[in-house]
Amino acid sequence: MAESIPIFFMGKKYTVPEGSTILSAIEFAGYKLIRGCGCRGGFCGACATVYRTPDDHQIKVGLACQTQVVENMTLTILPGYPANKALYNLENIKEPVTALWQSYPEIFRCLGCSACTKICPQDIAVMDYIASAQRGDLEKVAELSFDCIMCGLCASRCLAQMVPYNVAIMARRLYAKSNLIKPDYVMRRIEEVEQGRFRNEIDELIGKNTEELRTIYANREIEEI
Ligand code: SF4
Ligand code: SF4
Ligand code: FES
Repeated sequence: MAESIPIFFMGKKYTVPEGSTILSAIEFAGYKLIRGCGCRGGFCGACATVYRTPDDHQIKVGLACQTQVVENMTLTILPGYPANKALYNLENIKEPVTALWQSYPEIFRCLGCSACTKICPQDIAVMDYIASAQRGDLEKVAELSFDCIMCGLCASRCLAQMVPYNVAIMARRLYAKSNLIKPDYVMRRIEEVEQGRFRNEIDELIGKNTEELRTIYANREIEEI
């Protein structure tokens, strides 16, 4: 049996098993997470969490599904962080760099404080990819931001009030559209979809209710590892 330790969630004290993740501890405490929980594997970015421990004045961050509880920690999960997002149609963009700069002019207000890089749970050099965006080096932005899981934490800390991950995803899209070769198998599948090859299956799914969809999902074929 694991030892129990106290944690504080939503301003209330709970006793949870030591060694469990924040996500499991909150569920152990009786919460059913509808937001702030997704893949449980550190990939989806839904469970960004901020916390403090009594021995340290600094705010700490982590993914709730990947971070273990600490005795007497006070925590909040941030299932979403307010973030403005530019609207664009890649097909209509002729000048990718200009489009990025015009969509997110706030990148030029970056103060170089590095708060974004320090907070990123993926250890991404966020400040550096913003600097690359300022230089118009889309390839570098794409390379540096590749592991971004859109958790939102960098936006929560940015002194220039920007949303770095939305800048990065636009840069990756622009770079991919202009420079990457489209794989044959993807193009084939797009053609199949456009020709209606999966129409019956899609119509069948659209006609199902939530419970039926859940059952189909639970019984789906999963590739063996
Ligand atoms: S770059 Fe920002 S949104 Fe992406 S993983 Fe890091 S902190 Fe999260
Ligand atoms: S937190 Fe904002 S202002 Fe500071 S380095 Fe990162 S992008 Fe620039
Ligand atoms: S639940 Fe997906 S990253 Fe934590």
